[in-house]
Amino acid sequence: MPRINIDGTDYDVAAGHNLLQACLSLGFNLPYFCWHPAMGSVGACRQCAVKQFHDKDDQHGRIVMACMVEATDGARISISDPGVVKFHNSVIEWLMTNHPHDCPVCEEGGECHLQDMTVMTGHAYRRYRFKKRTFRNQYLGPFITHEMNRCIACYRCVRFYREYAGGRDFDVFGAHNHVYFGRHEDGILENEFSGNLAEVCPTGVFDDKPFAKVYERKWDLRGTPSVCVHCSLGCNTTPNERYGKTRRILNRYNGEVNGYFLCDRGRFGFDFVNSPLRLRQSLLRKDGSAEPEPTTKAEVLRHLTGLLSSHKAIGIGSPRASLEANFALRELVGAERFHLGLSASEQELFALIIDILQRGPARAASLKDAEQADAVLILGEDVPDTVPRLALSLRQAVRQKSLETADRMKIPRWQDAAVRNAAQQEMSPLFIATPDATRLDDVATVTFRGAPADLARLGFAVAHEIDAASASAPDLSDDVGVLGRQIAEALKKAKRPLVVAGTGCSSAVVIQAAANIAWALCRLGRQGMLSFAVPECNSLGLSLIGGGTLHDAFEAVEQGGAETVIVLENDLYRRVERAAVDRCLHRARHVVVIDHLLHETARSAEVALPGGAFTEGEGTLVSNEGRAQRFFQLLVPEGDIQESWRWLRDLLDISGRDPGWTRLDDVTAACAKTLSTLASIPQAAPGADFRVNGAKIRRETHRSSGRTAIHAAITVHDPKPPEDPDSPLSYTMEGYYGPMPSALVPYFWSPSWNSVRAVNKFQDEMGGSLRGGDPGIRLIEPASGAVPRYYDDVPEAFAKRDGEWLIVPLQEIFGSEELSRLAPAVAERVSPSYLALNALDATGLRIAEGAMVAVDLGGDISHLPVRVRPGLPSGVGGMVVGLSGSIGTLLPAWGKLIVPPGAAVGKDGHHE
Ligand code: SF4
Ligand code: SF4
Ligand code: FES
Repeated sequence: MPRINIDGTDYDVAAGHNLLQACLSLGFNLPYFCWHPAMGSVGACRQCAVKQFHDKDDQHGRIVMACMVEATDGARISISDPGVVKFHNSVIEWLMTNHPHDCPVCEEGGECHLQDMTVMTGHAYRRYRFKKRTFRNQYLGPFITHEMNRCIACYRCVRFYREYAGGRDFDVFGAHNHVYFGRHEDGILENEFSGNLAEVCPTGVFDDKPFAKVYERKWDLRGTPSVCVHCSLGCNTTPNERYGKTRRILNRYNGEVNGYFLCDRGRFGFDFVNSPLRLRQSLLRKDGSAEPEPTTKAEVLRHLTGLLSSHKAIGIGSPRASLEANFALRELVGAERFHLGLSASEQELFALIIDILQRGPARAASLKDAEQADAVLILGEDVPDTVPRLALSLRQAVRQKSLETADRMKIPRWQDAAVRNAAQQEMSPLFIATPDATRLDDVATVTFRGAPADLARLGFAVAHEIDAASASAPDLSDDVGVLGRQIAEALKKAKRPLVVAGTGCSSAVVIQAAANIAWALCRLGRQGMLSFAVPECNSLGLSLIGGGTLHDAFEAVEQGGAETVIVLENDLYRRVERAAVDRCLHRARHVVVIDHLLHETARSAEVALPGGAFTEGEGTLVSNEGRAQRFFQLLVPEGDIQESWRWLRDLLDISGRDPGWTRLDDVTAACAKTLSTLASIPQAAPGADFRVNGAKIRRETHRSSGRTAIHAAITVHDPKPPEDPDSPLSYTMEGYYGPMPSALVPYFWSPSWNSVRAVNKFQDEMGGSLRGGDPGIRLIEPASGAVPRYYDDVPEAFAKRDGEWLIVPLQEIFGSEELSRLAPAVAERVSPSYLALNALDATGLRIAEGAMVAVDLGGDISHLPVRVRPGLPSGVGGMVVGLSGSIGTLLPAWGKLIVPPGAAVGKDGHHE
């Protein structure tokens, strides 16, 4: 461990860090702009200067950029030297010459890194009196605002967008001393990580556009630790609210999971909580009424008392509800009468994934593991559309080879430009085998397109090449055989190989093939890792609870074994065929729905109870890594809205079985005690009794202003703040804020650090883990020393059928997920539904792009425009999950295409 001297005192620092990293890790306030822990150094802004001395006798020293110099043993520096202080001040002054003094109207004001650094360096007086440079701003789509005059040319945005996230429609343009960061013309930022610009940019050039419409100053916002609910990765977030309205989502750093970045679905999808579709009041369908009507909680519970006590009830759970809510429903109806709310095929796939991860020997990869993988195979999963943040990690994984080259050349890994220069286009192997093209293909070594069966066969072939004991795929074409060997060789050579698969193709054999590959690598002594994408925020957690399928539930209703159906946070019409749901809801004598949305299932119910959205309750979710993480309430919901588990506790109570649950901890503990697979979930975060110095942790900043004015129109008396019995967090600015368990950090703030960069003060070292360990607890670890039991159910090769197409599920980042599509900003990005077809097939059918066709899936007919997707194999079509036309359709399925007469085009391309 190198020892460096800062202003006369010796400090031990981490090996390989630069001086800026070292100083910040030690807690010094050294100003900087262009360096980013995830993106390294380029030395562009000149803000992080320190004075470096040759040795003890050197009295003069020289100014160096701390981010560009390694903290080597014996280094002597000063950060308080008058020359350095003056240098910091001068740099800010010249950066500010063109910066508008519009802080009072700037959305970044109060949480601006440039403001922080300006104050930190003592630059308080503007001497520049001339005209400032100005630019024209651009329309960049629904997510991000643009105000170029505020730019200080640190280059962080373009480095993030192009180099880190792989975007191509954003750049830096320059002429003379004008540099411009934006698109070549107005237009929507295409990259699905564009929202991170609002956090990456140290000034107010790029800001959160939906937040701008409901803007509040940072110090007036209440924050809470939360978890994204829009896919299974469990990215950590900080939602903010004021006046009872959730206003935005910020990234909440978790070193093992999302690090510094979120995807745009996770950042902007939260607004469904403010949707007009919210169920805000109890509804009860009186005899003969067409629609359920608003009623009181007391009346609805009275109605349910008779109903629950005199009828046989079954429960249907949900992969988007917390463990506690699902468990409470299971307690209400009994384990044998609890159903997971999933189709049989989906449920089997989740069970298969859990079995693979529990059995081992391959371990589930965290996002950090994925980022460090040095060879990756993606089998069957459209990663950017199903689990977007994983795609960002895999984009960094392909840089592993260039980082190794840098190591050999003794270039520090944080020397970003030098590493990129030395390594040029060198990339670690990434193989992508999917039915259709993906937005990661640009960094792939090889892409392979095939029907799910052919993807599985490729996977089995790769596993067999690695370990001959695993099943082989017979009759492979020469090309696929060669590719299988190439992939196997690359994975075998790697130290940290990763296989990514999931439920995207709805294919068990694809998942089994992926497991065989990772297991074969483990048998070779490699650290084989698996990452399985599953669709929803608690898909794995729900499966760990276990229960029947949706069709089991329907069967129980059909056979008269269930008269009351209680549906938890689940729109059944999105899960299985419409006719089956219609029949069940019609046959059941009583249907009770608990949810935060008034969806079709809720509208069909006899009773609909308003459940809390993720901002209105607390609970535990299990990510695709098997990591249990706690989310906390951001605001106390209005009226009858309460967490689903509280409704279910009330139902237990009225049916004479009071479980004695008064707060979430009681349910979490009961769940952990009952289900051995969930035994450690109480450790996901400290319980409600946790205190620091006897105090709760405050959700509001001590700078919160105008609290007494909030209710001034109603009363001049300051109302009693709400209490939160479920967590160790308080609802006011009173309480503790300081070093705290990482799972409880409600917002990152530290004196002098008002921007998101305050996270520096919460990390063990810059870019490392949060102090005390990253949030969450892993529930699934493979049995140690496990010997693989290979799958050998190798499918036949895909065979085209005359007049029929295998319609496979496709995903879209904006549109496939149920909740985020209700957020207005995301809704702007949702494209209309379509049928994807291979170009040759479209030509064979004599239909052009955009022509309408009828897709007949066993009598279920959808009318969709054709989108030609050159990547799709011939004989395979695709429909986007979650968009109209495919909702409730179980894919893959064979279907017929009916081309209406007007849709066909002649050989010359004109409609006939
Ligand atoms: S727009 Fe922001 S991030 Fe980009 S160069 Fe300017 S100040 Fe830096
Ligand atoms: S990747 Fe998934 S969990 Fe992460 S922010 Fe995006 S939608 Fe949310
Ligand atoms: S942070 Fe070091 S030069 Fe910009």
